[in-house]
Amino acid sequence: MCGIIGYTGSEDVREVLLDALELLEYRGYDSAGIAVRDKESGNTQVFKCAGRVSDLRAICATERVLCGCGIGHTRWATHGGVNDSNAHPHQVGKVTLVHNGIIENYRELITDYDLAGDLKSETDSEVVAALLNRFYEGDPAEAIKKTVAKLKGTFALVVLFADQGDTIFSTRNVSPIVATSCKEGAMLASDLTALCRFTNRYFVVPEYHILTLTADKLTLTDFDGHEVEPEYLTADWELNSAGKGGYPFYMEKEIMEQPEAIENTIANRVKSGMPDFSLDGVPDSLFTDCERISIIACGTAMHAGLVAQALVKSILHMHIEVEMASEFMYSDPVIDEKTLVIAVSQSGETIDTLEAVKYAKRRGAKCLSVINVKGSSIARESDYVLYTNAGPEIAVASTKAYTTQLAVFYLIVARMAHSRGVFTTEETQSFIRELQRTPEVMKKVLERRRDIHVVAKKVLAAKDLFMIGRGLDYSILLEGSLKLKEVSYIHSEAYASGELKHGPIALITQDTPVVAAVTQEKLMSKELSNIKEVKSRGADVVIFMKESIAESIEGEYEVFKLPDMQDEFMVMPASVALQLLAYYVSSDKGYDVDKPRNLAKVVTVE
Ligand code: M6R
Repeated sequence: MCGIIGYTGSEDVREVLLDALELLEYRGYDSAGIAVRDKESGNTQVFKCAGRVSDLRAICATERVLCGCGIGHTRWATHGGVNDSNAHPHQVGKVTLVHNGIIENYRELITDYDLAGDLKSETDSEVVAALLNRFYEGDPAEAIKKTVAKLKGTFALVVLFADQGDTIFSTRNVSPIVATSCKEGAMLASDLTALCRFTNRYFVVPEYHILTLTADKLTLTDFDGHEVEPEYLTADWELNSAGKGGYPFYMEKEIMEQPEAIENTIANRVKSGMPDFSLDGVPDSLFTDCERISIIACGTAMHAGLVAQALVKSILHMHIEVEMASEFMYSDPVIDEKTLVIAVSQSGETIDTLEAVKYAKRRGAKCLSVINVKGSSIARESDYVLYTNAGPEIAVASTKAYTTQLAVFYLIVARMAHSRGVFTTEETQSFIRELQRTPEVMKKVLERRRDIHVVAKKVLAAKDLFMIGRGLDYSILLEGSLKLKEVSYIHSEAYASGELKHGPIALITQDTPVVAAVTQEKLMSKELSNIKEVKSRGADVVIFMKESIAESIEGEYEVFKLPDMQDEFMVMPASVALQLLAYYVSSDKGYDVDKPRNLAKVVTVE
């Protein structure tokens, strides 16, 4: 969702801002804007428009002035439609502002402070600019504190005051801001992606502090005016790992990167063939002292949780629930100090998951998070973190984050089974050996991606499609179906195949292709019966099937053979195949695969 950049320094400010906004495009947005301070006149000029950063670049090219500082924003509409005036920055009197988050009481503020006459847009953000301007009497920190005291909701605010030279001010609650200073100046952003062109050292601005940036100085103070030392982190992502690397879309590149991503995720966590979290500082007591597990996540991350649920039930025989983070707090969940909460998130910023973690901790649960982005909000809020080490994931459709989340879950299940006495050492090592085969097995699927492209052509024209399977296959297909619908806009539903007869089979016709997964030997005969049922109602069926059991149906169906792993691990090759299916359908339809309509990579509003 919305992205923020602020920069003051020696480089061409406008270019720095526009380049950074391009790097933030992946978050999802519908409008973009920048404000730059003209060094000669001291005026702050705003350029903004609905549309892409490339449209903004074209507008900015018309007028060039020497600037000392500036702020920029990509907007994903929440309050007010997609148009030029709702785009950020907003300028009211001496204040120019960009905002991420939601101000819940903006209507009351308009009434209480009689701000309506100051407003030109329909946004909650402009109300904050108007209130700041109302409170501003030459002291930025005072105005910011007075304004923040009146706000209800979440916010990352970045502000230029007309009479404060090339200085940028910022404060936040919940919505993240990271900042850094380097030889080119000082800068801040909504996430690290926008900064890593300059440096890999950064810090997360603490909530309710004021950050002041000048070209040669960065100051952080608390709301009582005490200076605070920033806690710098070092990112291990290289900028070039965030480029497309010769692929037409990030999604394809990220699918292809999975074998390496899995290796990076498990490498330092296997010692003498055993799962080992000592480098992560995760103690075994976390796994032995709990009575139940609750997995909290959204979207693809939640689907990774569903695979974990199946493994925990069958191997650990423990009580486990997977909760959609957005529903969690409102469902009176059974959470106490005997519950191990596992939060899963690629970005580490999904607001529903973050709020659910805070709620679970208030109820006494211990929280372990499985996160890709280092130092993100959920990681900071959790008691323990296992990073997925997938590297930057830019495409909105999550791929390598999902399979690395699965890899972490296999490690957790193995460690837990051993520490709880369910697995012997030999059984644990054998389980881990199978996990270590994953990169090689995935490579075999990737090498045969042309065959999946052929399969993709068969579903290209579909308006509706079903994906069917049982047990773990059903969990995999929930993710495969989400992938297909988000990038190809085909209405796809994943169904537990035994449930079809209880209703949805009424929708099966010759115009509804069916994708089936058959990877679990013990379920094969039942799955094949369900497949026959849809075939006899006219559906074209494509089956993704474990190679060693596929012979039994040779010639009867269109089959893509998945390289063999033990049944619990078939999720890995099957997921890669389903990701490729979605990718090829989308790219063959000519869609912008990386930026599906209406979607955002980082979902920071509830
Ligand atoms: O950053 P997170 O993993 O918390 O994001 C959760 C979902 O928003 C995300 O997985 C979403 O479903 C993806 N677009 C799926 O490809």
